[in-house]
Amino acid sequence: MAVSTQQNSLQTISCEEPLREVRIIDQTCLPHQLVYKCLNSLDEACEAITSMRVRGAPLIGITAAFGVYLALRNGDQEWEQACHRLRQTRPTAVNLHWALTRVSKHLAGLPAAEREPAALALARTLHQEDANSCSRIGDHGLRILQDLWEEKQRCRTGDALTSQRLNILTHCNAGWLATAQWGTALAPIYKAHAAGIPVHVWVDETRPRNQGASLTAWELGQQGIPHTLIVDNAGGHLMQHAQVDICLVGSDRTTAQGDVCNKIGTYLKALAAWDNQIPFYAALPVSTIDFSLMDGVREIPIEERAAQEVTHMTGLNALGEQASVLLTVPGTAVSNFGFDVTPARLLTGLITELGVVAASPQGLAELKVPKAKVEP
Ligand code: MRU
Repeated sequence: MAVSTQQNSLQTISCEEPLREVRIIDQTCLPHQLVYKCLNSLDEACEAITSMRVRGAPLIGITAAFGVYLALRNGDQEWEQACHRLRQTRPTAVNLHWALTRVSKHLAGLPAAEREPAALALARTLHQEDANSCSRIGDHGLRILQDLWEEKQRCRTGDALTSQRLNILTHCNAGWLATAQWGTALAPIYKAHAAGIPVHVWVDETRPRNQGASLTAWELGQQGIPHTLIVDNAGGHLMQHAQVDICLVGSDRTTAQGDVCNKIGTYLKALAAWDNQIPFYAALPVSTIDFSLMDGVREIPIEERAAQEVTHMTGLNALGEQASVLLTVPGTAVSNFGFDVTPARLLTGLITELGVVAASPQGLAELKVPKAKVEP
């Protein structure tokens, strides 16, 4: 099957000739401003990942690979130390470790003079591979949406508005902003829209960083895809009232038994979907599978982030300037877990670039992915 890798002209990250500058979209400025930022050093690459200027599991991995290139470009031959620093930036998404393991293996046998061009070439390869994978995820997911839409047209239930469109609920941002192109969970939606299926997306706002409100809604708007922003707690109510046909989410780490770790709140949506017999799929490139882990709840490291993300909200004030406001009594105790684990039993399936499989050891075995050891 032909792979169409270009979904839109914007690049989350790029490094073009002749300047070879690593340029990112600074996602902390969206949706109000589309700002590009050049990363000039390992420090800046680390900062971009930690502060979530770039975020989303696949894009974090790609950025880390470019980070090693930047270290070498600046004359730093301590590339193993650079890998070590990049590994510390965010703990949950395994793509970071997957990408750095590939970089390490690639550079290990090379003479010093060859490392910089080799690191750049590999970072570009990872970028292209991710775009291809996400496009294929879109193709496989499209078939699920097509079947669901045909089934829905045959059955015609719900009110007029509900029955005239395919309602998809998504959490966080698993669109092209989180990857090289297309996205994971949003890729099937983009392809369904292009195929003429009347999709409508319920976008969870995704507190505390509001990736749904700030990024997913922006992305969908740019592509002309009908969507409605909802607060994080609205999904269960919508499901009870037949307003959701399918849930599609991404994954930051998927275990060998099919547990899926994604943005905090995903698990609650999966529980509500299960209770309402609504299909719940995770879409992910196989680079997100961590075959060294089985029990996601016990074994996946969950990122804890700053209290300020919960106590404050950032947005535009009445003057159109970016401003942060305090929501709480100063000093309120806060916990801020970034991710949760949805056990495999709650998932209808996993949509990967290699096909759609059951979230189970048998399902994952069908993918026949080489189980290369990923350095922690
Ligand atoms: O904290 P973030 O914004 O990096 O979290 C992103 C997510 O949870 C995505 O759903 C996940 O990385 C899959 S992206 C294709």
